[in-house]
Amino acid sequence: MEGLGKTFPGPKGGRPVQALREVSFTVAAGEYVCLLGRSGCGKSTLLAIVAGLLAPDEGRCYCGDERITGPDRHRMLMFQEPALFPWLNVLDNVLFGLSFVDNLTPGEKRNRAEHFLELVGLADCLNFRIHELSGGMKQRVALARALAPDPDILLMDEPFSALDAMTREQLYEDLQKIWQQTHKTVLMVTHNVREAVCLGTRVLALERPGRIVADHAVTLPYPRGMNDVALAETAAHISGFLRQSEENGGQA
Ligand SMILES: Nc1ncnc2c1ncn2[C@@H]1O[C@H](COP(=O)(O)OP(=O)(O)OP(=O)(O)O)[C@@H](O)[C@H]1O
Ligand SMILES: [Mg+2]
Repeated sequence: MEGLGKTFPGPKGGRPVQALREVSFTVAAGEYVCLLGRSGCGKSTLLAIVAGLLAPDEGRCYCGDERITGPDRHRMLMFQEPALFPWLNVLDNVLFGLSFVDNLTPGEKRNRAEHFLELVGLADCLNFRIHELSGGMKQRVALARALAPDPDILLMDEPFSALDAMTREQLYEDLQKIWQQTHKTVLMVTHNVREAVCLGTRVLALERPGRIVADHAVTLPYPRGMNDVALAETAAHISGFLRQSEENGGQA
């Protein structure tokens, strides 16, 4: 990302809203980067630009040497709400994610879909209808659907915020395993400092109007548990840093 800026026209008669200002950073292949920040600081806007769903007003965004100009199956986005198709069963939802991959036979697509559903712990639920699933199961299907086309980059926008704490903790555990097995580059939005420290190799903090105010490497070994003392200490350190930054008007 090089000097990204985005301003939305404000509500009728209101002032324009600057969502991002001079955002620059690089993510290396295989990193798990968590974007942290309060509501409205531009996290989803930034993710939508990386996904190619939104064009920046200023700056440029590259994936490798290629400029991002639109969506691509090598950059899959997973939303806060699972956004599954209720008229398809679990397997068909994942197969839908593979419909844009043309170098696979129908049999290979099915094997691949089953493989990823197994990876997210849903091997026994292939024929379930979406309304028969819990919130956590739906997010697992959405994760399998995003992973199945074998994207280079997985983009996740607060994927766990609608789930209860126990379901979330189980998913943190599973996601760490999946990330280690698949070696994906991940860019994940969250407003939860502990979640960011639990999952990420790096935490980027954004502040209003969308600019990066902190870039922390997290070197704790995996697997990480939400109640690990070292994790709590790192999260407290980052929270303290952000509080300080806010008090100083983002100049910490
Ligand atoms: N399509 C849009 N049209 C107008 N304004 C927008 C649009 N999308 C976002 N904004 C504004 O841009 C700012 C950043 O929004 P964004 O959704 O990126 O924030 P966020 O950090 O993801 O917040 P949250 O944590 O609540 O999801 C907000 O002030 C929002 O009102
Ligand atoms: Mg958002």
